[in-house]
Amino acid sequence: MKEKIADIRGQIEADAGQLNSPEAVEAFRIRYLGKKGAVTLLFKELGSVDKADRPEVGKLINELRALTTEKMNGAAAQAGPIRSKDWIDLTLNGRRPAIGRKHPLTIVAEEFRQIFARLGFSVAEGPEVESDYLNFEALNIPKLHPARDMQDTLYISDELVLRTHTSPVQIRTMMTGNPPFRVIAPGRVYRRDTLDASHSPCFHQVEGLCVDKGVSLGDLKAVLSTFSKQMFGANTKVRFRPSFFPFTEPSAEMDIWWESSKGGRWLELLGCGMVNPRVLEGVDVDPAVYSGYAFGLGIDRMAMLKFGIDDIRTLFENDMRFLEQF
Ligand code: PHE
Repeated sequence: MKEKIADIRGQIEADAGQLNSPEAVEAFRIRYLGKKGAVTLLFKELGSVDKADRPEVGKLINELRALTTEKMNGAAAQAGPIRSKDWIDLTLNGRRPAIGRKHPLTIVAEEFRQIFARLGFSVAEGPEVESDYLNFEALNIPKLHPARDMQDTLYISDELVLRTHTSPVQIRTMMTGNPPFRVIAPGRVYRRDTLDASHSPCFHQVEGLCVDKGVSLGDLKAVLSTFSKQMFGANTKVRFRPSFFPFTEPSAEMDIWWESSKGGRWLELLGCGMVNPRVLEGVDVDPAVYSGYAFGLGIDRMAMLKFGIDDIRTLFENDMRFLEQF
């Protein structure tokens, strides 16, 4: 019996060195202290030991059980509890959810919308695949007319184009309602341009249209200079230069004075003018009663100026290092 106890003691000591997982600790407990465990069985055998030897053997077995328990508890503390499949470690640090942010184009477009909402303009929208008629003809740009060269685009069919500007939304607005009109129309537009730092075949514009009785060029200048000051700062200076668009008469470009580390200079910001009477006639608005102004500008351009972005391509590449800066 004493020999057997010594054997089991040897096994326990050897096994105790391998208890490096909670599952191993549990197997160890079962092997020695379980119902049929080696130490448990020793207690059962104690009854058949000579009466005289029983106290001594009993003491040895008790010591063995104490040793086994001690080894087991020590290893269990190291290995931790057994993890069930749906075990959750409540002590782990939380994972911070990545917080999205607005794209610079969205930031500028929203600001634009707010400024014009205060000036009484609502938002109108139109499709990106537009009829040739609404993109060109209704804007006084007939088929085969040289004015089309200003805006070469991608044709879906003879009658459908990817819109080259947001100006067709002017026509849609005037065809479906009655004056007065005061709308802005933001959206994506397309031109046959080669991609480089300042050109993209896909970009964004906002159109503005105001038609009412007695609207003058003075109103156009007031609204656009107010807008420029709110968008780019109270001291922003603007100037208007004569220009040409088939759908406005007279037409102008508006520049803003831009200060940078290279010094100040005039930058072209937008095209504008008084809505051409021929355009009004085409949508059954009587030019003898109503007049209006329109303007259009690039959202990409505005975002680049406002945030000091020098390459338009960065707006579309979805590079997180760029987007995280806004
Ligand atoms: N549609 C013109 C363009 O894209 C801009 C513009 C809009 C000019 C409205 C005048 C009036 O170039």
